[in-house]
Amino acid sequence: MAKAIRVPRKKGEEMRRRLSSSGILDEEYFPSHDEKYVYLPVKKSVPRYKLVEVEARRRELRKSFKEMLSEIVGWESEGIFSSYDIVGDIAVLEIPDELRAKEKEIADALLRTNANIKAVLRKESGMEGEFRVRRFSFLAGEKRTEATYVEHGVSMRLDLAKVYFSPRLSHERGRIAEKVRAGEKVLVMFAGVGPFALVIAKKQKDAKVYGIELNPDAVRYFEENVKLNGMEGRVEAILGDVRKVVPERFVGVADRVLMPLPKSAEDFLDVALLAAKKGGVIHFYTFVNRAEGKEAAERKVFEAGRKAGRKIQILESREVRPFSPSTVQIVVDFRAA
Ligand SMILES: C[S@@+](CC[C@H](N)C(=O)[O-])C[C@H]1O[C@@H](n2cnc3c(N)ncnc32)[C@H](O)[C@@H]1O
Repeated sequence: MAKAIRVPRKKGEEMRRRLSSSGILDEEYFPSHDEKYVYLPVKKSVPRYKLVEVEARRRELRKSFKEMLSEIVGWESEGIFSSYDIVGDIAVLEIPDELRAKEKEIADALLRTNANIKAVLRKESGMEGEFRVRRFSFLAGEKRTEATYVEHGVSMRLDLAKVYFSPRLSHERGRIAEKVRAGEKVLVMFAGVGPFALVIAKKQKDAKVYGIELNPDAVRYFEENVKLNGMEGRVEAILGDVRKVVPERFVGVADRVLMPLPKSAEDFLDVALLAAKKGGVIHFYTFVNRAEGKEAAERKVFEAGRKAGRKIQILESREVRPFSPSTVQIVVDFRAA
């Protein structure tokens, strides 16, 4: 039952608007009507109208995740729940220690307020080991870590617990793909499940893209993704260590080489220079101390060029994304003569 005022039907809509704009309409309930009158639910009495009790249907008031979060953690703590990523239908949360006691509630709220999310995971670690894989724990929803992620019109299957993957590099993948010209041979070292290679092939139909990857699980998904996007013959997934595969198959072959392994790409600049043909372009990703800036990344490139006897021309250096308060990820685009 709700409290309402009774208004003749032809005046109903005008009155509903007035009550709504003055905050008197009780929006938790739907208005109802009979042949002569409309019954408008109200929060308090309205001069010249008698309050009546009516059977009223309750609205499903859908709260947003932000509203629920605010109720769960309190508005003063909202800021410390930093972020979450969505990979397909899986949400990945970073929960600070202060909120660990409320993590299940937060995860449930995310599931309830977002129909596209089916599973919620918590990051248990940073990227670890040679394969750069993260550990997760389950918070809510379906117990799985495999998803289909769509970006730049490319679909990718992947298992977050078995391979590296970051949706945060989407912009960077688009930026590189825009640079690739018709007829190029592109070599993606450290290719993972293929996001850079596939996005490039999507945007530039007349390029041949090779991806080399050490993690057998990632290569299995990479091959599946090549088929999923109908890119057989244009994109080749190669299982192996770049240090072995490049000297065997790619010496002086590539118009463009990508090095998306910021943790240790500098140890492989010699390999990238071996693969890049004269005048080829290399995209080198690395972490540097924020205070040192882009110059620190460029110094690594010049040093590798000197050792390889190749003249280096920097095309562009830019911040890809912040990594921690003191560290940033930088990409240096350069040409090797
Ligand atoms: C940071 S991840 C990037 C993956 C992918 N490019 C992406 O953006 O999703 C680096 C990848 O390099 C692979 N890797 C590490 N060392 C390698 C090597 N020597 N040869 C080939 N791949 C390697 C790891 O297994 C990992 O999948």
